Amino acid sequence: MDGTKLPEYWDWVAEHSFHLRQRSSSITDIYYRKLILTLINQLGSGCWKRILKLDAYNEATNTQYGLYLVKDGGELILVDISLGIAMKALVKAAEKGLSHSVHLIVADFRMMPLRPECVDMSCSFGSIEHVPEYNLAFYEQVRVVREGGEVFVGVPNLLNFSLRALSAKMLHIMGLMKKMTNPERHFVGSQLISLAKSLNLANIYFTGYHLFPKQLRWLDLWMEYRGVDKLKRSRLFRWLLKAFTLMELRYPFARIFAEMIIVKGVKRWGRDTGQRSSPGEAIGIGQRPRST
Ligand SMILES: C[S@@+](CC[C@H](N)C(=O)[O-])C[C@H]1O[C@@H](n2cnc3c(N)ncnc32)[C@H](O)[C@@H]1O
Repeated sequence: MDGTKLPEYWDWVAEHSFHLRQRSSSITDIYYRKLILTLINQLGSGCWKRILKLDAYNEATNTQYGLYLVKDGGELILVDISLGIAMKALVKAAEKGLSHSVHLIVADFRMMPLRPECVDMSCSFGSIEHVPEYNLAFYEQVRVVREGGEVFVGVPNLLNFSLRALSAKMLHIMGLMKKMTNPERHFVGSQLISLAKSLNLANIYFTGYHLFPKQLRWLDLWMEYRGVDKLKRSRLFRWLLKAFTLMELRYPFARIFAEMIIVKGVKRWGRDTGQRSSPGEAIGIGQRPRST
């Protein structure tokens, strides 16, 4: 899909995705949110007044990681290419009384209309893999963070034990994913770490998150949208959700096979030391990740 068609496509998703039209939180929405917030608390300093998050999709649904990151007096900037998705996120922020703390920018995250070093932390959880130039989006995330600020980038894991990449590919071939998302690139850990290194991030930390099988997550979202509460009430489903969550929290090594992998680093470009990385350098390394 060429860049000029992206806003139209995602605006269409805003109207048709069952996740974006779901009225209340599904059970996996709640667990997924808790896992992300726990991870960010564990890995990050938490000293952020101004946070940038790529894409407003989650905030437009009932998962809403970003809205829970806003602390007293803090601000959240969401950048999304779709006006439709941004508007839905704005409504959810207002419902939470966060209208004055959440700022929506409708723009391409490969070239954000933000000045350098204007935020304390930037994060994305499943965003940059939606564009072929994911390395530019990563570069942009680092560019806008202040010196010493933190950067989190989460992408789909090619080594996921429940075969996320293969399942998504099959659903795309069958045409069942079109209303939800465009095809996403999957990565292995070394590729994500190389990208972070190419952008001169310091104190790089790598892990994974969402061990619960994605196939069950899709099923849960679909049933919630259809108003069918069979799965929600199923003891087995709840037990599985709990078991996978506990495993992920207690045994960090298991996260290597989770649905998503994430890298966290600290920006240390140096003010006048000429250590700055360029988007070109990032592209050099970033071209290696395999498409799935
Ligand atoms: C499938 S959703 C991402 C899902 C979400 N991050 C998650 O964790 O489930 C993709 C989002 O990225 C946005 N998006 C895609 N390409 C973009 C681009 N080039 N610039 C800004 N936003 C973009 C879409 O509008 C949409 O809100």
